[in-house]
Amino acid sequence: MGVMRAPNTRPIGIFDSGVGGLTVARSVRKEFPLEEIIYFGDTARVPYGNKSKETINRFSREIVDFLVEKKVKAVVIACNTASSFSLSFLQRNYNIPVVGVIAPGIRKAVSVSKNRKIGIIGTEATVTSGAYGRELNRVTDGSFRIFSASCPLFVPLVENRMTSGEITIKIAEKYLVPLKKRGLDTLVLGCTHYPMIKRVISGVMKGVTLVDSSEAVAEELKRVLGAKQLLAEGSGKKGRMICYVSDDPRNFRKISGMFLGEEVAVKKAVLG
Ligand code: DGL
Repeated sequence: MGVMRAPNTRPIGIFDSGVGGLTVARSVRKEFPLEEIIYFGDTARVPYGNKSKETINRFSREIVDFLVEKKVKAVVIACNTASSFSLSFLQRNYNIPVVGVIAPGIRKAVSVSKNRKIGIIGTEATVTSGAYGRELNRVTDGSFRIFSASCPLFVPLVENRMTSGEITIKIAEKYLVPLKKRGLDTLVLGCTHYPMIKRVISGVMKGVTLVDSSEAVAEELKRVLGAKQLLAEGSGKKGRMICYVSDDPRNFRKISGMFLGEEVAVKKAVLG
């Protein structure tokens, strides 16, 4: 008979530049209802999407130090920009599992694409980092092609609740029609906010399969935590979630429900 292990009830840490990473937290909550979640949104320094690698590495490190102090058992980098720049840096510097959104998004895209033409949309920083392309080349034999576009106006549109309507559709067409013309059959939503405008994106990208990184990362986390026997399975209690933000929590509280689908405690935290 195998040795029975006690469930690991330490929290999972999730971080993002702001509120958008709650799309990832939502998927993680759905997949792991028993897990405690500590979310950090760097609302004082958002956006990350136009910042340099050095700056993002520094911010990421400060946030992970904060999460480690809270005794997290693993860290999820919900932010695509921080995943693009800081994943290997964080994995080298901490001895708990660190999971980003790039590899899960690519794995999913590779498994659903039939014509091997994959599109990636994200922030300017994510797209210029080339992180998705590198990951695609790492896991395939070179027969896949990648087409990317940055969609900088999607983040402010979502944060201003303009997730549908004429203006949003027009902007989506401007960004996406050129991509559509490349004949791709799969598009990775490579930014925390994009799942919130999935309907508009799929309206423009008819016939193209959308890959939601927030769902893909929950599957990856299951694999990683399962393999290391870090799951809270069997604890029998619904996990709590608490959010920390670096700016005034009021703004975050106002829109967090739209991203997360539930109300949670939000506190201000000072880093460093
Ligand atoms: N969280 C960022 C991302 O997924 C979007 C917002 C920002 O630019 O900070 O890339």
